[in-house]
Amino acid sequence: MAEIVIDHVTKRFGTFTAVNDIDMTFADGEVACLLGPSGCGKTTLMRMLAGLEKPTEGRVLFGGKDVTRLPPRKRNVGMVFQYPVMYPTLSVFENLELPMRYDRSVSSSERKRRVEEILDVLDIQHLSRAFIDQLDAGNRQKVAVGRAVVRQSEIVLFDEPTTNVEVNAKLQLIRAFKQVTRRLRQTIVYVTHDQTEAMTLADRIALMKDGRIVQYDRPHVLYSQPTTEFGGWFLGNPGMNFIPASIANGQISAPILGRPVKAPATAPSGKITIGIRPELVRMTGQPSDMSVPAKLVDQAIGIAGRYLTKAAIGETIVKVNTEGRPPAGLGETVHLTAPRDRLTLFAEGERVPFAFS
Ligand SMILES: Nc1ncnc2c1ncn2[C@@H]1O[C@H](COP(=O)(O)OP(=O)(O)OP(=O)(O)O)[C@@H](O)[C@H]1O
Ligand SMILES: [Mg+2]
Repeated sequence: MAEIVIDHVTKRFGTFTAVNDIDMTFADGEVACLLGPSGCGKTTLMRMLAGLEKPTEGRVLFGGKDVTRLPPRKRNVGMVFQYPVMYPTLSVFENLELPMRYDRSVSSSERKRRVEEILDVLDIQHLSRAFIDQLDAGNRQKVAVGRAVVRQSEIVLFDEPTTNVEVNAKLQLIRAFKQVTRRLRQTIVYVTHDQTEAMTLADRIALMKDGRIVQYDRPHVLYSQPTTEFGGWFLGNPGMNFIPASIANGQISAPILGRPVKAPATAPSGKITIGIRPELVRMTGQPSDMSVPAKLVDQAIGIAGRYLTKAAIGETIVKVNTEGRPPAGLGETVHLTAPRDRLTLFAEGERVPFAFS
């Protein structure tokens, strides 16, 4: 068992709090992605897991064992950071073999077997004899990934390993990474600020902001049920629409609703925000029962058969992602419908936990 427990961990640098009372568990054998904007504390948290940084407060446990005070080499974790250290005068094979070289519990034939296996999974058998500085950035990162996992330590940490890799090689690397992790069932924490990468790789995503974990859940739950406006905005491309609304006499009124909707009992009266994803807003040429008229104010941009555009309901701008071309041209009238059961309500930036009926 190698679950990672982060027990109320805080890290301060002087008066600045980089990691603020994080309390969570990364489950054994899962790939968890730590996702968040630059400066939110991802690397700081990883460095505390690796033992490169000591928490100001709190504890870190691996498989039930308190490792808070253990130095990196006693933690038995594999690591890949943005700029991995490798040995240019050694071949790919030798670089992969190196982490096991001084481990007496691994025989030389077992070492060779594991290296062959990793070369195979990463699809770089043909590069086995090449030297590191003969490789492009993508293949070099593959070797770095291989090096981190080959020792078969129970925990492997990755901090933005694809940052310096060009797009095509990046996809390949991610595919290889999925293969490796599925095969070895290690507990993996993978840092990224790239939501696509997180959605692709993660069993669970920990969304981070200002030193705190905002939400920790399955990728589709993060996407469809953000607990904060931040989550709705950060995930999705573009992110959620936030439409000002108000509740009075148990009714929600908002520009996008056409006619008022019954408010959940848990929702406070006064100003609230309605969240709805651009791809869930329906845009039609003709009005319908629940629709509201709007004016197309942005040229539609086509991406893979879908079109991204904006429509204005009075002052309120709504991003809409339609399947197929919008039914009207720039400056013309369209009709928008927001399906009631797909709305999210936020008060003070937090979701009001209730599903519309
Ligand atoms: N050794 C340090 N001394 C002082 N401040 C630090 C130190 N290390 C990190 N910080 C600060 O802590 C905050 C979090 O930094 P961290 O590197 O963990 O962010 P990050 O989420 O990894 O960002 P990025 O996506 O840019 O890598 C930043 O404001 C950073 O300036
Ligand atoms: Mg970082």
